[in-house]
Amino acid sequence: MHEQRRVTDSYWLTTAPGPSRPPLTEDVDVDVAVVGAGVAGISTAHELTRAGLRVAVLEAGRVAGGVTGFTTAKLTAQHTLVYDRLRRTRGPEGARLYARSQSEAIEHAAMLVAELDIDCEWEVRDAYTYVRDRERAEEVRAEAEAAREAGLPATFVTRTGLPFPVAGAVRVAEQAQFHPVKYLRALTADLVARGGRVYEETRVVGLQEGGEPCRLTTEAGHTVTARDVVIATHYPVFDRALLFARLSPRRELVVAGPLGDGPDPAGMYITPEENTRSVRTAPYGADGRRLLVVTGEHFTPGTGDPRAGFDRLAGWAEVHFPGVKLDHAWATQDNESTDTVPLVGPFHPGARHTYVATGFGGWGLSGGIMAGLLLTTLITGGDSAWRELYDPRRLKSVVREAPALLKTQAEVARHFVGDRLKPAASVDDLAPGDGALVRAGGERLAVHGDDEGHLHAVSARCTHLGCLVSFNRAERAWECPCHGSRFGVDGSVLQGPAVKPLEQHDLG
Ligand SMILES: Cc1cc2nc3c(=O)[nH]c(=O)nc-3n(C[C@H](O)[C@H](O)[C@H](O)COP(=O)(O)OP(=O)(O)OC[C@H]3O[C@@H](n4cnc5c(N)ncnc54)[C@H](O)[C@@H]3O)c2cc1C
Ligand code: FES
Repeated sequence: MHEQRRVTDSYWLTTAPGPSRPPLTEDVDVDVAVVGAGVAGISTAHELTRAGLRVAVLEAGRVAGGVTGFTTAKLTAQHTLVYDRLRRTRGPEGARLYARSQSEAIEHAAMLVAELDIDCEWEVRDAYTYVRDRERAEEVRAEAEAAREAGLPATFVTRTGLPFPVAGAVRVAEQAQFHPVKYLRALTADLVARGGRVYEETRVVGLQEGGEPCRLTTEAGHTVTARDVVIATHYPVFDRALLFARLSPRRELVVAGPLGDGPDPAGMYITPEENTRSVRTAPYGADGRRLLVVTGEHFTPGTGDPRAGFDRLAGWAEVHFPGVKLDHAWATQDNESTDTVPLVGPFHPGARHTYVATGFGGWGLSGGIMAGLLLTTLITGGDSAWRELYDPRRLKSVVREAPALLKTQAEVARHFVGDRLKPAASVDDLAPGDGALVRAGGERLAVHGDDEGHLHAVSARCTHLGCLVSFNRAERAWECPCHGSRFGVDGSVLQGPAVKPLEQHDLG
């Protein structure tokens, strides 16, 4: 069973091929350099270009090829159970500002879709957070009340479009869902048409921000000078304010395929139960069929083999949506901040011209669009009602976050020390397709055996801060449990915060 379910590329990426953008091959000077072309980076660059600034986007891979190309792509201000928590941690006003900022981001995206006539399968749908366990119904009822107090059109309901009964659900009316890659490609084309520049296959490896302007260096050795720099690399690739200590990566699995003859649940659903289950549908083909997308089974990258998780998720989808033909399976990860509110704003306490957008906690589509609007306001000298809510320098909050922060750090320390004490494996025991850490010449090596029996050895020390990587068998990648960096079996960086590859070794 495990071996049959191949992890594929995301449905969104395979159904929206786009033109490639050239890599940076010279030094350039712009008003703002945006690092990263996911929803946060492209939304920011697009807004800045509309505001008349000279903008360059530097992307290590392809536009929308990061987390944004692999999500569920619900665009909603309803973020599982966020409002009941926010009214306690940030007060009713904090919850209201959160709801307003996320709702305005969705309205802004709807406006852009209409104005630019973007064909991105935009559909208005109600969003639901449901529970099946009666004992948790009160949690959901409290969330409905908190979301309504925060200004959202939220109600507590016991009936949904799901094909099974629920004990209760919060319904937030008239949210949206779309095709994230089609949306970002259209925004990219528009920003280029307006004079903005987008460079793909251009990894940034250095940031100098002491003097003015700021200076970025790329892996190929080119320099970008810019008055302002936005780090929108998902997990920030530079750390100036202990952000690493305030973000934990969480990887999640997705399965998708055309629905059978059963009804479309006609809504966007999520439950915190069963290690998360998230459901939506999307247009599929020309004959009115629908694609089912189911997400769940989250885990810390580098801490397990997700093959059984894929099977559980697919089994769940097949039981509840009989006849579904699951032909896509993929995975991706998001970062949760210690106080569960994204970090969007000045990069660190001394920052004058550097900004960051991260910590979206699984809700970075509305969050990334919100970040684009907020950062454009800040960079162009304006103010925003939710500047403080999202400010990465929120010190009071850091004090409140201390227990979560210590927990995150204890986890990292456990991996940094504990993983080194684990016994090394032997290459002789490696099954085809598998990977393991072995000891050779006094060093830990990460060794992958491919299907043809060839061994590929790279250093096992993550190039970010030195934790030991671990093999993800389902996706055939090395993952670091400390901050979620991911590497190919050849050592190349798949996902930061690492910017340097794992060094290749010859096993002799
Ligand atoms: C399974 C799953 C489902 C989700 N579903 C939803 C959903 O339904 N709704 C929702 O709102 N949110 C959802 N999210 C969250 C959302 O997808 C993310 O928060 C969001 O896509 C993050 O966008 P980003 O721009 O910050 O990151 P990314 O899309 O990862 O963009 C960052 C870019 O930076 C680039 N980069 C990295 N390092 C460098 C470097 N050194 N130099 C240059 N470029 C670099 C990367 O290549 C990447 O393209 C989901 C998350 C997961 C894990
Ligand atoms: S990602 Fe930070 S040490 Fe590996």
